[in-house]
Amino acid sequence: MPAPSPSAGERPTPTILGVGAAVPDQLITNADLVARLDTSDEWIVRRTGIRERRHLRPTETLAELAARACTDAVIDAGCNAAGVDHLIIATITPDRLTPGLAPAVAARIGAAHAGVLDVNAACTGFLYGLDHAAALIESGRARHVLVCGAEALSRITDHEDRATAVLFGDGAGAVLVGPGATGRGIGSFVFGYDDTLADTLYAERDAPKLQMAGQQVYRHAVARMTEAAQELLARNGVEVEQVDYFVAHQANARIVTAVADALGVPHEKVSFNVEWTANTSAASIPLALAAAQRDGHLKPGSLVGMVAFGAGFVWAAGLASWKDT
Ligand SMILES: CC(C)(COP(=O)(O)OP(=O)(O)OC[C@H]1O[C@@H](n2cnc3c(N)ncnc32)[C@H](O)[C@@H]1OP(=O)(O)O)[C@@H](O)C(=O)NCCC(=O)NCCS
Repeated sequence: MPAPSPSAGERPTPTILGVGAAVPDQLITNADLVARLDTSDEWIVRRTGIRERRHLRPTETLAELAARACTDAVIDAGCNAAGVDHLIIATITPDRLTPGLAPAVAARIGAAHAGVLDVNAACTGFLYGLDHAAALIESGRARHVLVCGAEALSRITDHEDRATAVLFGDGAGAVLVGPGATGRGIGSFVFGYDDTLADTLYAERDAPKLQMAGQQVYRHAVARMTEAAQELLARNGVEVEQVDYFVAHQANARIVTAVADALGVPHEKVSFNVEWTANTSAASIPLALAAAQRDGHLKPGSLVGMVAFGAGFVWAAGLASWKDT
């Protein structure tokens, strides 16, 4: 079904129409890690805020997990997967080096006519997908775009290294983006990168285990996400008080707290979903959005602010209206 072209002066306003999430069944608690690593629940909770994470089993695929999240998002939006014009999947851990995840996920959910694309922008990948989805809808080139963040970070984690093994988890989250009504829509995004610090957070192709200089990453994550969020608000002419809910990349509760405090966002408006998911890279923001809707923090017409930071370094910030139909 080709998307209708907007007539002059009638540019569709993209909005998030639905959200979905899926995590693997296999639960890994801090107690499970304490049983085999030189660590403690107290250390993990105090330094990261993380209490548990999920890991895919070797026989399970990320495509299947992502398909569950995408199907949930389409159902939540009251739409049909057959009407999805594009599926954009942000991931650094596809089941295979090639093909990407998107074709397998589109086939599983019945998005028979969708354009299918994987995006690799580490923990900021979901926000890149959201910005591209908004552009496709505004221009009239698409009417419904599914944006999914899906990761199996357990597959690129060194499970013997206590400094990183406690930090990462697997999961998938998705949103369906489509034309909204009268609201603010999906605003102008902020993007940035600095490749001079690429060696502080990376995984090599031939030895794919995440390596990280934790303290350096921590400092830059706080500074870059704070700056990006401030620029985002200024660029969109929005005061921080107008943002109903704030989702920063869920890497570490202390990072989220530092960014929220620097921006002046009260903690009751802030997602701390990292407690239950650990760091799921590109999946972290859509998983947090799904949890926020479930817990009543996001309602139709809410304005949600999002900011992410990850390997590259690459960072992004975006504003979106919630179910503004
Ligand atoms: C990784 C991180 C939680 C470590 O916290 P930290 O307060 O910086 O801790 P440090 O790395 O300075 O380590 C402090 C001590 O704890 C120890 N430690 C590290 N991991 C540990 C663990 N799981 N359990 C117990 N002790 C641990 C270290 O060996 C070190 O011991 P030492 O003082 O005897 O040398 C933190 O740096 C962080 O969150 N960084 C950013 C991570 C991130 O966001 N990554 C992804 C971005 S997308």
